[in-house]
Amino acid sequence: MQNKILNLLYNTKDYVSGQQISDSLGVSRQAVNKAVKTLRDKGFGIESATNRGYLLTSTPSFLCEEAVKLFLNTKLIGKSLTVLDSVTSTNDYIKKLGSEGAEAGTVVLAREQTAGKGRLGRVWQTKKDDGIALSVLLRPELAPSEISSITPLSGLAVCRAVNDFCMLDSRIKWPNDIIIGRKKLVGILTEMSAEFDKVDYTVTGIGINVEHTTFPDEISHKATSILLETGRHIDQNKFVATVLGYLEQELVLNRYILSGEALADYQSLCATIGRQVTFTRGNRQISGMAVSISQGGELEVMLSNGTIATVNSGEVTVQGIY
Ligand code: BTN
Repeated sequence: MQNKILNLLYNTKDYVSGQQISDSLGVSRQAVNKAVKTLRDKGFGIESATNRGYLLTSTPSFLCEEAVKLFLNTKLIGKSLTVLDSVTSTNDYIKKLGSEGAEAGTVVLAREQTAGKGRLGRVWQTKKDDGIALSVLLRPELAPSEISSITPLSGLAVCRAVNDFCMLDSRIKWPNDIIIGRKKLVGILTEMSAEFDKVDYTVTGIGINVEHTTFPDEISHKATSILLETGRHIDQNKFVATVLGYLEQELVLNRYILSGEALADYQSLCATIGRQVTFTRGNRQISGMAVSISQGGELEVMLSNGTIATVNSGEVTVQGIY
């Protein structure tokens, strides 16, 4: 009901009388008054004027479930969407939902994580309203060996959302860190649950630095935020709706496969290509020039003897970045 009232006010862009709202939603005037009060308590600016009714004047800028839903324009991703005030890790939370049968497209967001996880066993900090923690549950009908594109496609989607919404020039550090210049803005952790020949679900966990003005000493030289880069406070709800829109475009419409136009777009946004990189094979450190990305998202590196090595996971150090 709150979502319906919001949609009505948002789409009318003028005063709507309490009577009109109660008629079109088939609820009592009392119920409308109560819902408006709840929405105001959640941070929506709703003016009321005698004989005119209600006018939506502002929406909350911090993460709020009703506000993300108001701006969302997707079919699958976000069909079920929850914003939590605080959680250990949105990836862990949504994995539990996945194992209990939650539908594909389920999204969980949190304003704070107390035990956020990064790649390779690292910690990912999301302090209250400083960063956005977002996890998406998908159920692609693929074999485990076929889902390697999910990671780069998610990176492509977030990079395009950042550039479009924040008017920034972010790039992708293979496989899916989003960077601005030499500094990291977004980290993505993909996890999956699968049987031998079939994926049960995948989880794409995205951590975005939004309002940070400082970072812990160990990462301050290589981390940045939207506020630091633009000098502006963004509307986090509109931004999340934009990110989810691009994720649907890149993942669902491309049927989870990095090829054709998506592969060309990824390569043109990938800051790793054309740089010297170092990666680990067994216990050897190998260096070479990153030359391209394969269908499916592996990094192709030309070694000094002219052969091409294919790198599909793990840590890659990129000269000039990190
Ligand atoms: C990395 O760059 O190391 C990946 C960071 C991924 C962080 C996100 S925040 C939302 C989701 N929940 C987690 O616990 N981790 C991911």
